[in-house]
Amino acid sequence: MIRKQLLTLLIACLLTGSLSAQSWFEEKDLTLTGVYYYPEHWDESQWERDFRKMRELGFEFTHFAEFAWAQLEPEEGVYDFAWLDRAVALAAKYDLKVIMCTSTATPPVWLSRKYPEILLKDEQGITLDHGARQHASFSSPLYRKLAFRMIEKLAEHYGNDARIVGWQLDNEPAVQFDYNPKAEQGFRDFLREQYDNDIAALNAAWGTAFWSEVYRSFDEITLPKRAQMFMNHHQILDYRRFAAKQTNDFLNEQCLLIKRYAKNQWVTTNYIPNYEEGHIGGSPALDFQSYTRYMVYGDNEGIGRRGYRVGNPLRIAFANDFFRPIQGTYGVMELQPGQVNWGAINPQPYPGAVRLWLWSVFAGGSDFICTYRYRQPLYGTEQYHYGIVGTDGVTVTPGGEEYAQFMQEIKSLRGRVAEREKKPADYLARRTAILFNHENSWSIERQPQNRTWNTLGHIEKYYRTLKAFGAPVDFITEKQDLTPYPVVIVPAYQLADKELVERWTAYAKQGGNLVITCRTAQKDRFGRLPEAPFGSMIFDLTGNEMEFYDLLLPDEPGVVKMGNNHYRWNTWGEILRPAKGTQVWATFEEEFYAGKPAVTTRRLGRGTVTYVGVDSTDGALEKAVLKRLYDALHIPVLDLPYGVTMEYRNGMGIVLNYGDKPYRFELPEGAKVLLGDEEIPTAGVLVFSFVK
Ligand code: GAL
Repeated sequence: MIRKQLLTLLIACLLTGSLSAQSWFEEKDLTLTGVYYYPEHWDESQWERDFRKMRELGFEFTHFAEFAWAQLEPEEGVYDFAWLDRAVALAAKYDLKVIMCTSTATPPVWLSRKYPEILLKDEQGITLDHGARQHASFSSPLYRKLAFRMIEKLAEHYGNDARIVGWQLDNEPAVQFDYNPKAEQGFRDFLREQYDNDIAALNAAWGTAFWSEVYRSFDEITLPKRAQMFMNHHQILDYRRFAAKQTNDFLNEQCLLIKRYAKNQWVTTNYIPNYEEGHIGGSPALDFQSYTRYMVYGDNEGIGRRGYRVGNPLRIAFANDFFRPIQGTYGVMELQPGQVNWGAINPQPYPGAVRLWLWSVFAGGSDFICTYRYRQPLYGTEQYHYGIVGTDGVTVTPGGEEYAQFMQEIKSLRGRVAEREKKPADYLARRTAILFNHENSWSIERQPQNRTWNTLGHIEKYYRTLKAFGAPVDFITEKQDLTPYPVVIVPAYQLADKELVERWTAYAKQGGNLVITCRTAQKDRFGRLPEAPFGSMIFDLTGNEMEFYDLLLPDEPGVVKMGNNHYRWNTWGEILRPAKGTQVWATFEEEFYAGKPAVTTRRLGRGTVTYVGVDSTDGALEKAVLKRLYDALHIPVLDLPYGVTMEYRNGMGIVLNYGDKPYRFELPEGAKVLLGDEEIPTAGVLVFSFVK
């Protein structure tokens, strides 16, 4: 019977052409923890000592060759992998698996000198140069060809090597704003394809009748200039789509190439979680996504006077909830072990903070965590960057000690805890999705209408509330299935079309609960206003018409009243005209529209649609609306103070305190403390098991 099931599974894997992401990691490991090492920076006689120490500290893998193209291909077409072979062998001696990298962020000097056309150009016409990193253009076919040639050699060499567990492509691949002539050519080709070679269709999409912007052929189109503040924003929208695609295609092609040789090795890349850049998750060949995260770099995004040593309480949580839903599995490729070198001010982290971040990553459901980096560099741009060991190469830093503690804690839990998805029913009952599409930010950014508007900030007001509720949150795309979520939030989703609105309507009718917020569905996918009453794409869904919207001065907030409470707002307010059957939850208190609705709710089929037409000043209204909704739906929620988060995985509750005061957590009935104490100090962690 079991053999038959395995066979069916195998056939399914073969048919889908991939192993499921989950199968790359073993659930029993909980998480693997590793560390970056650059063998090319250190005397070879020290490698063994370093790997031995890594292993002693508890690391299970290391990470090689991220920026080593010059050492891997010192002359064009001449490859040298011998040094890397020796490093891999020594790491294996200490039972350290290896993540191999493609080195494409640092092309060697021979390449830039012989083929300067591969270099990135900025808008002012400055050509980037050798001597730093990330100076090659993803749009250059020649650069791609040379990069792929080197990667193919590397993949041939290491693809069948069981000591290599997986691959990281490039380094923090970003969307390039590149004015290399090849990028311009690429943009035109992209547009030809998008518009089926029909320039009239492009003119209509970009509204070029306005200001005589009309084009006669695709060859007349250039890259939009950021220096021109009134640049056609429909064009900018398409340009950003193109630019994101350039990065995504480059990564996807690298991945497919490696997969031709790789036997049972995964491929990912290490994105910076710049959510609005729009490329994360856009390379379908990748096995899963991973991110990099730095928590303290000077700005005080934390709580209290010394919060800048602990960091923003939701910074890791948000990244977890954004990356995990893309493919189910995710990892963190870089997490700082101590001071960094690149912040405006680079403080020491608060004692315990490094361990707090590690547990934060783990709490979100990650499979691995890697830290940047093992040794503090003695030369180069990152001299002041802490490592797991200091400048002498042997003294373990405070962050290194916290890593060791975390790894020891994880190991002590292995074999003692439940399976990954074992989570309590009340936690699962408040599962909520937030619909995210970076194109909304791109579009609103060009026409914010109020300088205080911030699309991500608007979304964060809802996110912060959900985390205070102790809710598991998934950021999902509009294409993903909405039905697993009792509540779906659609925040400021400006670009929409009829099909999307129909999907939302069907979700609500079948029993889902939608929370739609201001600025949603006001434009089509090209960023044009439909020839219909403003905002009317969703009138039938929300049960409201919109009379108009209004904006207030930043220092002169207005007031919205819900029940007996008052809430402040400035940035955006829509004055609603509800249809029969739509219930008013909040009204404007002031101005010439005092008494008119700002927040409404209605039943639709078996579900509900709540419409929040205002963006509040401090998120208090958003919290009150969600509380009222969840209460009405009988969804049990917590009320954690800002700075305290809690998640469940593997039958464990994990409570994290980013606050500046101790927090006493009331353990659920029957729970048993595994780590820490109910009284959680600043940067403290409480782990309990609720499985009896
Ligand atoms: C990251 C980057 C690493 C390293 C690190 C320093 O953004 O990916 O290569 O430069 O910053 O903190």
